[in-house]
Amino acid sequence: MSLFVKKPLATLLSESREEGQHSLSRRISSTGLVLLGIGAIIGAGLFVRTADAAAFHAGPGVTISFVVAAIGCALAGLCYAEFASMIPISGSAYTYSYATMGQFIAWIIGWDLVLEYALGAATVSIAWSEYLNKFLEQFIGQDWTIPYAWCHSPFQVSPAGEHGIVNLPALLILLLLTMVLIRGIRESAAVNSIIVVVKVVIVILFIALGWSFINPANHAPFIPPVSEYTNSLGLTRQFGGWGGILAGAGIVFFAFIGFDAVSTAAQETINPKRALPIGILGSLVICTALYILFSYVLTGIAHYTDFRVAGKEASVTYAIEQYMAGYGWLAKFITLAILFGFSSVILVMLLGQSRVFYSMSRDGLVPSIFSEVHAKFRTPWKSNILFLFFVGAFAAFVPGEVVGDMTSIGALFAFILVCIGVIIMRKKEPDAPRAFKTPLVPFVPILGAVVCGAMIVGLGWANWSRLGIWLLIGLVIYFGYSRRHAVIK
Ligand code: ALA
Repeated sequence: MSLFVKKPLATLLSESREEGQHSLSRRISSTGLVLLGIGAIIGAGLFVRTADAAAFHAGPGVTISFVVAAIGCALAGLCYAEFASMIPISGSAYTYSYATMGQFIAWIIGWDLVLEYALGAATVSIAWSEYLNKFLEQFIGQDWTIPYAWCHSPFQVSPAGEHGIVNLPALLILLLLTMVLIRGIRESAAVNSIIVVVKVVIVILFIALGWSFINPANHAPFIPPVSEYTNSLGLTRQFGGWGGILAGAGIVFFAFIGFDAVSTAAQETINPKRALPIGILGSLVICTALYILFSYVLTGIAHYTDFRVAGKEASVTYAIEQYMAGYGWLAKFITLAILFGFSSVILVMLLGQSRVFYSMSRDGLVPSIFSEVHAKFRTPWKSNILFLFFVGAFAAFVPGEVVGDMTSIGALFAFILVCIGVIIMRKKEPDAPRAFKTPLVPFVPILGAVVCGAMIVGLGWANWSRLGIWLLIGLVIYFGYSRRHAVIK
């Protein structure tokens, strides 16, 4: 029984064609996929983590952080697209690595993707909770906002000294969206399309209207010199310089996560070989352009130090209310749109998570409950419910920046393995049909792995150790359960 037994490409492809009681139904077009991609991409990374990265790491240089992150994503995206067009089956990086690098590495990736998808959903639900409070304040009144204790984790303390207990709104949105997912993918994709349009409109409006409020003094110096500051926990941290930009890139990388989630919907896609590369790369290009402009405007309207205290939460709305006189309506509109916009991100993350575990379960690496499909809705409903508990625990009790960084590091790690996988697959299966080929192999995959690796370095030792602990837990499960139950021995 080899650790590196591979799933034959032919088996994968026949599974992707398989119809019958267990299969998911094919309903999404290539336009639907681009929308699914943008729906997954624009979210808390842009509207919450940008300000965080500017305040605590890069200053206005966060714009450059976005460029670094986009380069890493584009390179990895080209690798994802080759795999997705070659192996159009649910499961994303997990499935690709099972075919290329064998069961053990596939397990590591599948396990690691839980960080990306499940914790990604938790991060965005926490950000949703911030904007829900903003919504209550703007639309109903300050007296109606949720008390700090009930919308923050026990590890958070407000500037006024209040302690968090549990993040209830984050739990609520997860519950609602799990119900939507269980109901079925077509309905989810339709809701998603409307939300995507609104989301893109608010990003463009913010850029266009905010441009004339840019105060050049806020952008000077664009890359702040290296300095130290003490954070709310009393820890000394480094700020500025190129180190700050790299750390910022690791953080805002979160804003790009999701384009790869498109590939997890492969089994539900019409003509996946053509639609997947379009979905992955198309959504990435559109979002990159928007992000660079958005971060430039945000750090131009408000000084980055504003985002350390008063503007720490619901930062975009804060910047408008504080510095864009006469645009209160825009702040309100953005809050409202964000509440819906974040929902579509959470939806795709939860969808991606259940699909990865669906594939792993079909392969016997996780229990069969994760691939039981609902007789009427044709969705892996039991898996959805189990993940509601798992994601909910993080959303309720862990601060957003911690789960956010864990999401980033998990995704970066998966991206690196996908880049390496393309090189291996070209050697092992040179003649397998590929509707889309990554250009300049091995240069593009190697550079992709290097750029993503640099962002992992930027995320710092606390995140490296969290990733290490998570992978160790995964090893225990693999050797304790998965190896014995695997369908392919
Ligand atoms: N890219 C997604 C977001 O920014 C995960 O919320």
